[in-house]
Amino acid sequence: MVQCQRAPPTRLSSSVDPRRPLSQAWCPAVRPAIIWMEKVITMHWQQPIPKSYLQMPSQELFARIARRKEQLGRKLVILGHHYQQDDVIQFADFIGDSFALSRQAAGLSDAQYVIFCGVHFMAESADVLTAPHQQVILPDLGAGCSMADMAALDDVEDAFAALEQANSADPDFRLVPITYVNSSAAVKSFVGQHGGAVCTSSNCEKILSWALDGQKPGAPPHTKIIFFPDQHLGRNTGWKMGFSLESMVLWDYRKPAGGLSEQQLRDATFILWKGHCSVHQLFRPEHVEQARQRLPGVKVLVHPECSWEVVRKADLVGSTEFIRQQVAAAAPGDKWAIGTEVHMVNRLARQHPEQTIIVLSECQCLCTTMYRIDPAHLLWVLDHLVAGEVVNQIKVDPFDAYWSRVSLQRMLDITAGRPLQEPPQPPPEHTTTAVALPALV
Ligand code: 13P
Ligand code: SF4
Repeated sequence: MVQCQRAPPTRLSSSVDPRRPLSQAWCPAVRPAIIWMEKVITMHWQQPIPKSYLQMPSQELFARIARRKEQLGRKLVILGHHYQQDDVIQFADFIGDSFALSRQAAGLSDAQYVIFCGVHFMAESADVLTAPHQQVILPDLGAGCSMADMAALDDVEDAFAALEQANSADPDFRLVPITYVNSSAAVKSFVGQHGGAVCTSSNCEKILSWALDGQKPGAPPHTKIIFFPDQHLGRNTGWKMGFSLESMVLWDYRKPAGGLSEQQLRDATFILWKGHCSVHQLFRPEHVEQARQRLPGVKVLVHPECSWEVVRKADLVGSTEFIRQQVAAAAPGDKWAIGTEVHMVNRLARQHPEQTIIVLSECQCLCTTMYRIDPAHLLWVLDHLVAGEVVNQIKVDPFDAYWSRVSLQRMLDITAGRPLQEPPQPPPEHTTTAVALPALV
C-alpha cells in the first residue's frame, strides 16, 4: 500500500502553497491525476500580501528594494519585460522580450534566484531554460497572459484528435502543431511530443515554412498546421507567405468540433486557434486612419498580434524587439504611431524625445495582468529571499520541461537554418525527477 505523506489540501488549486505544486504534495497513487489537473487549471491564485507592503509610500518601497538587491548581490537577477511599468523596470538588470530574457537568465548561472517581472508563461519558459539550481520567481501569481490561457491542454488535445480523424482517409496527410511562445509549458510540451515547434513573433514565418515543407499556397492541403493560441499572428503570417484567407479556418475551442465541419477541416491548410491578445485586439483599422490624419507623415508600426485589418494598413509589423529597434534606428523628427502595450510606447517616447511617438489609439492599451507586478509584490518576494525563503516559485514538471525544451530547440534550429537535433532519451510521463538536459543553443 502507498502511504500518503501529507494530508490532502482542501482546495484544488496550486494556491494552497504557491511554493510547491500540488503534485509534489499529494500521495504517489494519485499524483498522475493531480499533474493532469495542474495542467488544465490555468488560473493561479496569489495569496494576499500583507497590507504594510500595499500601503508603503513609493519612495520607501524603492529604497527597500534597492537595499534587498544589494544584499542578494550576484545571487539575484531581475528580468523586466518591455511591457512592465517603470516603477518596476527601474530595478531590472535586463529588459527585453520574453524569449530573449529567458535565454539571458539561462546564461547567468551565478544567479540562483531569477525574478521574472513579466507574465506566467514567460516565467515558465525561464524555468525550462535555466539550470536546476536556478529558481524562477513570479512576484504575483495572478500575472497570467489571457491569450496563453485561451489554449488549455485538454482543448488542444481534442482539436488535434478531431483533425486527425477528419483527415484519416488521406494517406499523405501530415498535421504539424505550432505554438506561439505565449502558451503554457503544457501546450509547448504537447507540440514537442507531436513533432511541432514553438515560434515567436519574429521567427513565425520561418517556422511555418519549415512546417509546410515546401507545400505552396493553392496546393492540395495534405500538410496542415494547427496554430496555437493567437489567431492573428497565424493569419498575418500565413497571409504574408501568400496563403489566402480561404485556406485558413478558425477553431473555436468553446464550440463542439471547433464549430467546423469535417469538410472544412479537410480543405484548410491553417487551422487557427480562436485566441487573441486582449490588448492588441483593441487597435482598429480606423485608428490607423485617425493617426495618419492627426500626424501627417507618421509611420504606423504594429505588433503582429493586431488584427489582419490593422496589420494590412500599417507601414511596419514586428515583435516588441523589432519595434524597439525601428525607433532606435530612426532619425530625429520621425513620427511613429505604435500599436502595442502602452508602457512600452510611453517608455520609447521618453527615451527618444527627438522623435514624435504616440500610441496608435487612445484606448487603454494596458496589459492588466503584467501590471499586477508592482513594487509592493517585488519587495515582498525579495524580503522572503533575504529571509531564506523562496515564494512564488514557478516550476514546470520534468516531463513538460523536457518536451517544451524539445519544441524550443526545434525553433532555434529552424531559425538558424541547421538540421534538427535529436532529443536525448525522454523521461517517463509522470516522473517527478528532473532530467538533465543540454543547454539550448
Ligand atoms: P514578445 O515575445 O515580443 O516579448 O511579446 C510578448 C507579448 O506578450 C506580446 O503581447
Ligand atoms: Fe498576453 Fe497580450 Fe499581455 Fe502579451 S500583452 S502578455 S499577449 S495579454
